[in-house]
Amino acid sequence: MREFIVAIVGASGAVGEELIRILEEQNFPIRKLVPLASKRSVKKEISYKNQKIAIQETTHDIFKQEGVEIAFFSAGGSVSKEFAPSAAQAGAVVIDNTSYFRMQENIPLVVPEVNSEDIKLWKDSGIIANPNCSTIQMVQVLSPLHKKFNIKRVDVSTYQAVSGAGKKGMESLLKQTKQILQNEKIEDCGAFPYEIAFNLIPHIDVFLSDSYTKEEVKMIKESCKIMHSNFEISATCVRVPVLRSHSEAISIRFENEVSAKMIREVLSNAENVEVIDDIQNVKYPMPIIATNTDKTYVGRIRNDYFRKDTIHLFCVADQIRVGAATNAVRIAQKWIEILES
Ligand SMILES: NC(=O)c1ccc[n+]([C@@H]2O[C@H](COP(=O)([O-])OP(=O)(O)OC[C@H]3O[C@@H](n4cnc5c(N)ncnc54)[C@H](OP(=O)(O)O)[C@@H]3O)[C@@H](O)[C@H]2O)c1
Repeated sequence: MREFIVAIVGASGAVGEELIRILEEQNFPIRKLVPLASKRSVKKEISYKNQKIAIQETTHDIFKQEGVEIAFFSAGGSVSKEFAPSAAQAGAVVIDNTSYFRMQENIPLVVPEVNSEDIKLWKDSGIIANPNCSTIQMVQVLSPLHKKFNIKRVDVSTYQAVSGAGKKGMESLLKQTKQILQNEKIEDCGAFPYEIAFNLIPHIDVFLSDSYTKEEVKMIKESCKIMHSNFEISATCVRVPVLRSHSEAISIRFENEVSAKMIREVLSNAENVEVIDDIQNVKYPMPIIATNTDKTYVGRIRNDYFRKDTIHLFCVADQIRVGAATNAVRIAQKWIEILES
């Protein structure tokens, strides 16, 4: 099997570290791994398959110098804006975890379980965008239901873990929790606009002129692009004091009547989705179940009290894996399949 020269831009970050772990776990066909980050990380090393590899600075020339063929970007939108075109021009396929390219028309936005056929459009720009973490787990659940029952409207509320804000987000929660338990005053809210320990914050990313946050608009617009759909959808995104794995309460209205049993049946056969919905035995999805796994868990599936065409459910996934690194690696695996077909 052909092996590739693979770069990770943002190798010292939360998503970058997870990407390296997943590439190793999956025995991804790598000839050479090139970890990249900012100047700050240049003396650091990453571990990959019992080897230590030095992190290099991300520059415009590095992709050509190293002969990079696949470049995973997870270093923030401004880094992708500046360096992803250089990687693509050097002949690499860029798989970008940031929001920078997601809504650009000629750039495919891909969740392999939903729209892997869109990967073929990568040739236009050399770039494939990885969706927002909350969007990925939601469309994995919505897509099989839409195909079967035709969705008319979705309302989602998220409960997003602090690691969604990177390593600094996790550090902020841990530090503030200790401070509160030691009766110390919290002077610095870290990655968040307010204290996150023993609190929750209905504000992720910046506010837009229509009173939505950018995170909420990402969920709305990205879902329509990935699913090629135009059903109504609204989102409320909330940061909660959970270290890892995002949860979502989703209400879905369909074209016709559906039962919780019918929904459970479809989701039981959905790719990379696992139904945990056994209330007799008090079993349902939670962040502690999803963390460090590659599945999206769904439960609490029930009919609406008033409308027979409406279902409510709860879904949870590890947003650093399913919502970022695993999805990016799945895109790369599909891209290789297409290349070799
Ligand atoms: N965390 C999540 O759950 C999640 C999920 C989906 C998507 N994402 C997206 O993935 C991206 C990274 O998120 P993260 O959570 O991994 O953040 P993070 O933990 O803060 O890591 C950021 C990474 O970017 C690198 N970086 C920063 N400035 C750079 C520059 N000028 N040039 C090159 N590298 C630079 C950092 O390197 P240094 O260590 O050298 O500063 C670090 O490796 C973001 O765009 C985020 O929106 C995150």
